[in-house]
Amino acid sequence: MIDFHCHILSEIDDGAASLEESLLMARELAGIGFTQVIATPHIIENYFMATAEKIVTKVEQLNEACIWEGIPLHVVPGAEIMLSPRFLEEFPNPRVPFLNASSYLLLEIPFSQPLPLYTEEVLFRIRTAGYSPILAHPERCLCFLQDPEKLYDLRRYDLLYQVNMASFAGVFGGRSRKAALAMLHKNMIDFLGSDAHRPGEERLLKVPSVLNILKDELGKDSLQVLLEDNPRKVLLDEPLELRHSAPEQNGLPSPRRFFFLDLLSDTKSRKKRVYRRER
Ligand SMILES: [Fe+2]
Repeated sequence: MIDFHCHILSEIDDGAASLEESLLMARELAGIGFTQVIATPHIIENYFMATAEKIVTKVEQLNEACIWEGIPLHVVPGAEIMLSPRFLEEFPNPRVPFLNASSYLLLEIPFSQPLPLYTEEVLFRIRTAGYSPILAHPERCLCFLQDPEKLYDLRRYDLLYQVNMASFAGVFGGRSRKAALAMLHKNMIDFLGSDAHRPGEERLLKVPSVLNILKDELGKDSLQVLLEDNPRKVLLDEPLELRHSAPEQNGLPSPRRFFFLDLLSDTKSRKKRVYRRER
């Protein structure tokens, strides 16, 4: 299994605080059954500004330490890049850390704000330049919880989605859990990641039970697509097929409308509750 999203590198973002912590996380991941992990430190303008070169150096150090400690886990370089207007100005830029130097990029947007206005322009620029965008943990973003159909709209840019495993255990709240399950049942998830930041945290501790839930929901073969086949294609820079339900046809309501009904009604009832309280 390949953990697609993890802050395992030390002293580079808000993830592992030391090499010892990185090794503890590596041990936990290997204990669960992961053989590879993509190190995805945050790249956030003015906060975390690691370059591709620095990430590769850190990855090499950690791989060496894992070998010394006898931990059967291989670390691969990557990054989680916060979308910003500056990113748009500079892209494509050879200093941008792609996933294992492929044409795939892992992106994030703010959790509790509307979808940034420049999002579609950035995605268009990435695709027309021949690269493939992947969005990290959309099930945690308020803009998609309030308007889930945006997830479909952004598929126009061949946007791929990575969901956090701990979301299925409700670690990020009930609405994120519901969104993750809805995405799962409509084939809207392309990758799964721990998004772990430190050893022993809930995001890692819940992974074994979540894998059992997912095995029941999806079956072993489909789960393997998300945890092995798709991540491997990214690491080898091979094309990946988009899978999701069909768009609206013959004027009939599309399956996606039914799919998201629960989430939308949840949002509406929440709004009603707030409205009543304010009155
Ligand atoms: Fe992350």
